[in-house]
Amino acid sequence: MRQEWFDDARFGMFVHFGLYSGAARHEWVQNYERLTDEEYRPYFDNFDPDLFDAAALAKTAKETGMGYVVLTTKHHDGFCLWDSKLTDFTSVTAVGRDLVREYVDALRAEGIRVGLYHSVIDWHHPDFTVDWNHPRRDDENAHALNEGRDMARYREYLHGQVRELLTEYGDIDYLFFDFTYPESKDGWEGKGPQDWDAEALLALCRELQPEMLVNDRLGIPADFVTPEQYQPTAPIVRDGVPLVWEACQTLNGSWGYHRDNTDQKSPVLLVQMLVDSVSMGGNMLLNIGPDGRGAIAPRDAATLAEIGEWMRLHDRAVIGAGHAPFTPPREGVYTLRGDRLYLSLFSWPLGFVHLPGLAGKVSYARLLNDGSWLRTSVSDPDQQADLMTPAGEAEGTLTVHLPVRRPDVLMPVIELRLTGE
Ligand code: GLC
Repeated sequence: MRQEWFDDARFGMFVHFGLYSGAARHEWVQNYERLTDEEYRPYFDNFDPDLFDAAALAKTAKETGMGYVVLTTKHHDGFCLWDSKLTDFTSVTAVGRDLVREYVDALRAEGIRVGLYHSVIDWHHPDFTVDWNHPRRDDENAHALNEGRDMARYREYLHGQVRELLTEYGDIDYLFFDFTYPESKDGWEGKGPQDWDAEALLALCRELQPEMLVNDRLGIPADFVTPEQYQPTAPIVRDGVPLVWEACQTLNGSWGYHRDNTDQKSPVLLVQMLVDSVSMGGNMLLNIGPDGRGAIAPRDAATLAEIGEWMRLHDRAVIGAGHAPFTPPREGVYTLRGDRLYLSLFSWPLGFVHLPGLAGKVSYARLLNDGSWLRTSVSDPDQQADLMTPAGEAEGTLTVHLPVRRPDVLMPVIELRLTGE
């Protein structure tokens, strides 16, 4: 199965890096501020990724428990981080560095799966037509800008660049295309699968990298779907078939480095989101936006370090785990890995956690962080719940006895060994 490694890994790192990192105010800055090419040019002329250290990036991903990384090869601004022969708008012409090469080499050295992100949108390319998403949409006579622009030529460029990426850099495990917006708006057309010739582009991917996973953002179905900046609340099913899915999430709402944005998610929230995804059979791709020099921002490094410390003790509740066919108690979520059921506790109850339907199904219970045994019992469902010991739980409920003090970890996990009956 093509996506076996992906299902197994569950946790990946997204890396958004480009000219917008130096602008430091969101990767959509060119669009938000309607910047012309000339106005955006200083970020190219002053691009200086002296602290972009692919080996450190790969090491950080590994220490955070992430099994794959996905780097922006080109974002919507059109700037390329590899040695494309089809444009001079690249990191090689800017600073003489093929950052994609550095990146794939570093990941392979750490044994981490290699993912690429590639924007099918391109605000720099002269043939890419202006539409409601384009930085020039509000220019005077903006519609006239499309005279002479030819999407057929752009398509050739797009396919040519994807070919470069999929032939010059060895085995690529994963490709995240971004994105399709077929709806019309504000007097403009959008762009749909036909604008990319999505079928042919996907066929090219299959031909050049048959094992590679491809996402759904060419506007046609492929290998997995990509909920963005929200958490699904159930396994994702289409026409009765469960889909492979991956929630992509930011640390602060912006994908590219955004210096003044302090909306940083807490490490606790992030590990909850991670196990929540796994509990519904999905993955989480957590983004970092390296700063203008290419370094991982200290606040991001600190967040990842905390997640990594949690993963060090609890990764078996995530990696190789998936959806469990039991209804969890109100305090948390279940993930299942072989004969081990993991209960990640979002809140810490007093003394006991009651697990409906698990009486007789668990042979051993322990806290995962320190391996300490937990007493279990089954209370009499017919007894009143107003006496001095737990009682009145539904038939078949297993009660796990907990210490009063919550373990000092981001999120405690109880490991339950199932009897298999
Ligand atoms: C969106 C945004 C983009 C980001 C991507 C990540 O489509 O356009 O900036 O790269 O999501 O999923």
